[in-house]
Amino acid sequence: MPDYDREARHYDATRGGDARAEAAAQAIRTLLPAREPGEAGQAGAAAGQFTVTRPLTVADVGCGTGIVTMRLAGPGRRVLGIDRSAGMAAVAEARLPGRIALGSALRLPLADASVDVVTMVWLLHLLDEAGSAAAIAETARVLRPGGFFITTVAKNEAAWATANDLAALVAPVQAAHAGPPTDGLSRVTGLAEGHGLRFTGGSRFTGCGQGRSPRRWRENLRSGRISWAGRAGQDRIAGLCAALAALPGQDVPRPDPVYQLVALHKKGAA
Ligand SMILES: C[S@@+](CC[C@H](N)C(=O)[O-])C[C@H]1O[C@@H](n2cnc3c(N)ncnc32)[C@H](O)[C@@H]1O
Repeated sequence: MPDYDREARHYDATRGGDARAEAAAQAIRTLLPAREPGEAGQAGAAAGQFTVTRPLTVADVGCGTGIVTMRLAGPGRRVLGIDRSAGMAAVAEARLPGRIALGSALRLPLADASVDVVTMVWLLHLLDEAGSAAAIAETARVLRPGGFFITTVAKNEAAWATANDLAALVAPVQAAHAGPPTDGLSRVTGLAEGHGLRFTGGSRFTGCGQGRSPRRWRENLRSGRISWAGRAGQDRIAGLCAALAALPGQDVPRPDPVYQLVALHKKGAA
């Protein structure tokens, strides 16, 4: 996992900034329960099926700099952010004063059945098997009956959502060496089901500005920051880098990744 205390200063600029954050927040909003029956714009999980008229408490876990969190606030929604990195939380605190807590997804600083919505954007893929399972169990604990868990899934496969020449080279090597993702769709929905959280819908958002060029991929593969590249071995990565170097448009970013969100509903009436 990156050192997020060090990343904090550059995080927003290197992760798609406001455009990515707005796309993510918009995709989350479509999965929130409607405030009145048949409310327009509430698709996915809600689809007129789930309506909560009282104000919602939304806990954004792994909130980072709060660039998405701040966009989840709105009429009838009170937002909290939780992150274990002091550096990231400090940036978030400047955006949402008094609404950010330091804490772990594995042991949330929240009471049982105390929030209506838990969101996790780009968190589960960072946790190992035990950690991601604990984070889902914690989410189920803090959600009120009738609440929603909204999370990204299969984050590291998002770059291959649009077929292209770079994806054709990198995706098979990643698939061979990355191992099953801890945020895979069936794993997340299966674990959630075990805690009484039922899949109700999904949405997608574009990682604006996150598409990488062949040159950038070669740099990343050699940087030591990609764990599966270490497992693939030097010869395999050298071969992949040579193939990437032969592609046209060395500095032309390939299509932006498209990230998947799912909504899981906790049994009971809100
Ligand atoms: C990729 S960033 C995503 C930040 C934010 N959700 C966004 O979309 O911009 C992952 C964040 O999760 C936080 N994090 C990692 N492990 C965590 C844990 N066990 N509990 C809480 N936060 C964690 C990191 O500090 C980092 O801020």
